Amino acid sequence: MNIVDNIRTTHSITRDQLAELLDTQDQELLEYLRQQAQQVAQSIYSNKVFIRGLIEISSYCKNDCLYCGLRRSNHEAVRYRLTENEIYAACENGYTLGFRTFVMQGGEDAWFNDDNMCRIVSTIRRRYPDCAITLSLGERSRESYQRLFDAGANRYLLRHETADKSHYAQLHPSDMSFDNRIQCLYNLKEIGYQVGCGFMVGSPYQTIDTLYQDLQFILRLQPHMVGIGPFVSTRHTAFEDFSNGSVERTLRLLSIIRLLHPHVLMPATTALGTLHPRGREKGILAGANVVMPNLSPLAHRKDYNIYDNKICTGDEAAECYVCTSQRLSQIGYQAVVDRGDFKE
Ligand code: SAM
Ligand code: SF4
Ligand code: FES
Repeated sequence: MNIVDNIRTTHSITRDQLAELLDTQDQELLEYLRQQAQQVAQSIYSNKVFIRGLIEISSYCKNDCLYCGLRRSNHEAVRYRLTENEIYAACENGYTLGFRTFVMQGGEDAWFNDDNMCRIVSTIRRRYPDCAITLSLGERSRESYQRLFDAGANRYLLRHETADKSHYAQLHPSDMSFDNRIQCLYNLKEIGYQVGCGFMVGSPYQTIDTLYQDLQFILRLQPHMVGIGPFVSTRHTAFEDFSNGSVERTLRLLSIIRLLHPHVLMPATTALGTLHPRGREKGILAGANVVMPNLSPLAHRKDYNIYDNKICTGDEAAECYVCTSQRLSQIGYQAVVDRGDFKE
């Protein structure tokens, strides 16, 4: 049995198998990896790709993650915060386009405290009872996650960034805690959220060993979603002189994660589309099954500048939606806008 079949049937991987799949130049093996991952995804979700509407609610952040364009010490960053009415208008626009999942993402912005955020979540829940509400607002207390869940949020995306504690300390300032981030993920899961973890591929100081730990962490946590995308080197951050992550390595890892954790919901990320014109399509063909077009108001798009050269900053929500659907149909996939819950 070859290495790919072994991973697919055992849902496990050794450190050496990972090293071999990430380093190999054997095109036949790589094509087999991709095909198997695509087949596993199709056997569960057929040729459907779930579309989520992304609303970037704030570019303010109290944190200083070394890689991120929104870090607080980036004084060049333009800061904005959507008003409640702008958030509701983005949802209404998305709902009219057919979206049934809204993802509200932002920096850790104190304005979105529990009272304000719960009011927003419960308003959206009341207006659109048939929609899934996903939050991606960073680390909060367990009590805060519980209140947001009770207000109607269903899913939470919190990339763990790296499962190696010392690597985490190389990517974050000392006032951020690896243990807290991991605890947040377990808290979210216990409360009952569908939970997404994830990491950047090619982040500074990442090694095969740290990636191996990332995969082991995914197997332990058993998340409903995993978000991975290439690291994009960004001006005015501590890592502006580092190289971008590799698109090719990201695709291999998408396939490996699909084989290890077959039911996972996995986006073909905007970062992948930023580093390669067909990056998102390649991601789907490698086993991803989610795309998150942007629903944020055009006036603020370019200011959610997590990383440089981000795509879709000049396109209306409707344009992104049509563009996404067309791109998917060109590769034989169907864009579906229903809630697209995790299938047990
Ligand atoms: N503030 C929340 C958080 O950190 O979880 C949500 C927003 S944050 C911008 C979303 C994700 O963007 C992070 O989890 C990180 O993996 C990713 N990101 C940040 N800087 C990046 C970069 N330079 N290249 C690629 N991805 C990046
Ligand atoms: Fe803030 Fe998230 Fe960027 Fe870190 S990754 S600086 S928490 S927006
Ligand atoms: Fe935004 Fe193509 S997905 S313009």
